[in-house]
Amino acid sequence: MSKKFYVTTPIYYVNAEPHIGHAYSTIVADVLNRFYKLCGSETFFLTGTDEHGDKIAAAAEKGGQTPKEYVDRISSLFRALWPKLNITNNYFIRTTDPDHEETVRLILQKVKDNGDIYFSEYEGLYCFGCERFFTERELADGKCPDHGTAPEVIKESNYFFRMSKYQDWLIDYIRKNPDFIRPERYKNEVLAFLREPLEDLCISRPKSRLKWGITLPFDENFVTYVWFDALINYVSGIGYPDGERFKKFWPAVQHVIAKDILKPHGIYWPCMLKSAGIEPYQHLNVHGYWNVNEGKMSKSIGNVVRPLELVDIYGLDAFRYFLLRDMVFGLDSGFSEEGLIARINADLANDLGNLVSRSLTMVLKYYEGALPEPGPPEHEDRVLKTEALDIIDRYEVFMKELAFHKALMAVWEVIGKVNKYIDTMSPWVLAKSDRERLGTVIYHITETLKIVSTLIWPFMPESAEKIQDQLGLAKKGKDFRLEDIRAWGKEKPVRPMTKAPALFPRIVSKKQDGSSKEEEKKVPEKDVSLISFEEFQKLDLRIGTVKKAEAIPGSKKLIKLTVDIGEERTVVAGLVGHYTEQDLTGKQVVLVTNLEPVKLMGVESHGMVLAAEDESGVHILMPDADTMPGSKVR
Ligand code: ME8
Repeated sequence: MSKKFYVTTPIYYVNAEPHIGHAYSTIVADVLNRFYKLCGSETFFLTGTDEHGDKIAAAAEKGGQTPKEYVDRISSLFRALWPKLNITNNYFIRTTDPDHEETVRLILQKVKDNGDIYFSEYEGLYCFGCERFFTERELADGKCPDHGTAPEVIKESNYFFRMSKYQDWLIDYIRKNPDFIRPERYKNEVLAFLREPLEDLCISRPKSRLKWGITLPFDENFVTYVWFDALINYVSGIGYPDGERFKKFWPAVQHVIAKDILKPHGIYWPCMLKSAGIEPYQHLNVHGYWNVNEGKMSKSIGNVVRPLELVDIYGLDAFRYFLLRDMVFGLDSGFSEEGLIARINADLANDLGNLVSRSLTMVLKYYEGALPEPGPPEHEDRVLKTEALDIIDRYEVFMKELAFHKALMAVWEVIGKVNKYIDTMSPWVLAKSDRERLGTVIYHITETLKIVSTLIWPFMPESAEKIQDQLGLAKKGKDFRLEDIRAWGKEKPVRPMTKAPALFPRIVSKKQDGSSKEEEKKVPEKDVSLISFEEFQKLDLRIGTVKKAEAIPGSKKLIKLTVDIGEERTVVAGLVGHYTEQDLTGKQVVLVTNLEPVKLMGVESHGMVLAAEDESGVHILMPDADTMPGSKVR
């Protein structure tokens, strides 16, 4: 029996159009889905839309539509987007589907029958943006940390889920299953949250306040809280309780989400599953945020990045590659079009595109598209073969750990090696002097290309298939298994190899435009360029000594530093969780001193501490010997 793999994305709220953040989560799920196919697993991939609750009702009203009209419209935008991004979901779930609604009622009744739902009066602080009650402790300066608005005091009778009952079980489960929530930082975040007593979860809203939801099976004056409804999509979408798909795929489920919805997925959902008698999920995979210009994307700031606009200009595969290569799964990343162009030109046009193009040119020129018979391999050939085969194992490990950037770096290592092998072997010289060696060299190049094309397929399906097509292979894309490429030389071409136009034309901005080469693609004028020395010199970087480090009440991230740079500066830095106040006091740092002051959590910051971030955390930059405070960094 084949192995199973089931992957889900969050089901997106239909109160906004899809942006690059939604595209990222969904492409990650797609890459995993395709990768597990390469591993020979039977897979299932679910995405969809979350359509109930205050937020949606309010957005519909604002647009002058009924909730149903509104959700149908926006949900179809998401649904139409995914095929354009080559997303291979097997099903698209909507929480307004009758089947889903029925499953929600079934689970509510089950949890109630288990004695885990009770009715009680509650007065609390409610954030309408988050659609949930907040404790004082969770607020920052009395405001919702995500929405920056003061919550309203609401007093009402509601149904509650006895989540507190499952606190100890959940802590124990997470400890015994260390990769239940990953990467580790998010597991630690959930455990830190569970150090405080867990409150029961309010799972209803009175219809007098909100009608747009699923009516409770045991009280028709109430609708279901939107999160209790939405999370259930992961089981209703595969036919819980009796469906074959549920039985087959649930044991292999992996969720993909961003850090914003860690709490419902890391805490509510496992407790709900436990209460309903369903096994916990296998992995919760949590990624960071795509930021634009150092900040969150927001309609009001006008910096929302729309995936299709980028795909139209730069091509789908380049866009998919960039997202997966530039973000370290779990950490935040900054999006910039310049970054995207740089990746296309360096990694895709230069490294991969060139390799494919020069390799096929040689096969056509020297062998009219046929695969030559290799002669006895020499040292360099054996080295290339071993490296190419080794990469398959490394790639597999990285992919299973969701270290997509490392998996791609490994593939690019091989691409670099073949390019170098071509330069060293100089087939154009062998063509004149040694036809047998030429055959062996060309054979090793095309064989390695076959491996490369298979490994990039989850990320860039169209380009991978184009390469496989040019290589004249019978199998393409989803037909390949890692086993096929582990067996060196097994998949032989079934027709002559061909050469197609450049896979990834170089991007030149119109500004640089002089000639018009076939292998170049022009995009509207954009400064891709490097900064000048004069521009760099505008930055005033100085060494400072931290005199004092103080926590900022209510902030989970920020710390206030008093830094001596010849004069005293107050600087706010996002170092909580990485450094304690004691760690920082007395340390020397590199400070950008001529930034415009900004107010963060009520404290005016007059500078920025330089730091680097990787998977192990945040590391501040410091001089390697004690340096006079105020010294200029050049
Ligand atoms: O939270 N960077 O829906 P939502 C990366 N309906 N990913 C981002 C992002 C960004 N800047 N912005 C959004 C909801 N995302 C609920 C989910 S699930 C049972 C219910 C992605 O439309 C990321 O996956 O607000 C994040 O978790 C999700 O969109 C939130 O989508």
